[in-house]
Amino acid sequence: MEKSIAVLTSGGDAPGMNAAIRAVVRTGIAYECHVFGVRNGYHGLINGQFERMSTRDVGGILQRGGTILGSARSEEFMTVDGRSEAIRNLNRRGIDALVVIGGNGSQAGANELFKMGFPVVGVASTIDNDLVGSEITIGVDTALNIALEAIDRLKVTASSHQRAFIIEVMGRKCGYLALAAGVAGGAEAITVPERKTDPEQIADAVRIAYEHGKNHALVVAAEGADYNAAKLTEFFVAHRERLGFSVRSTILGHVQRGGEPGASDRILASKLGNGAVQAILREEYGVLIGLNKNKVTATPYEGIIGKVKNLDEDLFELAELLD
Ligand code: F6P
Repeated sequence: MEKSIAVLTSGGDAPGMNAAIRAVVRTGIAYECHVFGVRNGYHGLINGQFERMSTRDVGGILQRGGTILGSARSEEFMTVDGRSEAIRNLNRRGIDALVVIGGNGSQAGANELFKMGFPVVGVASTIDNDLVGSEITIGVDTALNIALEAIDRLKVTASSHQRAFIIEVMGRKCGYLALAAGVAGGAEAITVPERKTDPEQIADAVRIAYEHGKNHALVVAAEGADYNAAKLTEFFVAHRERLGFSVRSTILGHVQRGGEPGASDRILASKLGNGAVQAILREEYGVLIGLNKNKVTATPYEGIIGKVKNLDEDLFELAELLD
């Protein structure tokens, strides 16, 4: 049953990636496998940056954000030649299976390797939560809590000045982070890529908040929405006289990715990293290890790559009701 497993992290880092690496390494070794870490994602796969990992090599990383293996976005891996070189390197080192810890683009890349015949297992990890095949992904919860801390702080200064604030969160083309941060942060309005925004409606929500006696108003904007922070601010500033309130905006950006993983992400990452090795031991390849209905699942890439995760419409309606 002894297998050689390689593990890499790819795409945008997410808090909890280290906990997933640790789980892969320690589960693998517990089942008498040899585990190799690949540095810098697919770039390292093409350039042969492999190193054997022991249980001690992953000591003290459970609580650390980022990824000890490093991550990269590799243009070369997008080409057949790049992927062929990656497979040659894996075969040269006698690797039986590769674990790819990452988000949408990284899993699409893993699927390409799988289609070229190499055994791959993916682990759902991205703060965007845009992967079909896992209800929640590693890093989302921590990123969300970072956004909430910022929202709570912005409310303090917003109240002092009776200002409206727009806070922009990440998420690429997915509105999950914005919606979740908006509900948990009590935002007056939320913009998401999945819905068309009417800026007048957003302005109304802010005005109504003031009319109801609030001394601050907060809008959470997704970076990928038609009205992100820049566009919404432009609209508010252009109509300032008519709207009757002043606005400031804050773009959270990569701050959301840099935190230490919270308990949920550490536990999720431990489960999914373990799940990846279990799939390899079962020789079940070309699957994404994720969490669905609170169970670790292995979903075939075939049915999920390229698919778009739906916005939770019920949660959006709840946000509108409660603002
Ligand atoms: O996919 C994770 C993510 O943080 C997105 O939310 C964001 O749009 C993107 O990565 C930023 O990418 P980069 O780190 O390459 O600037």
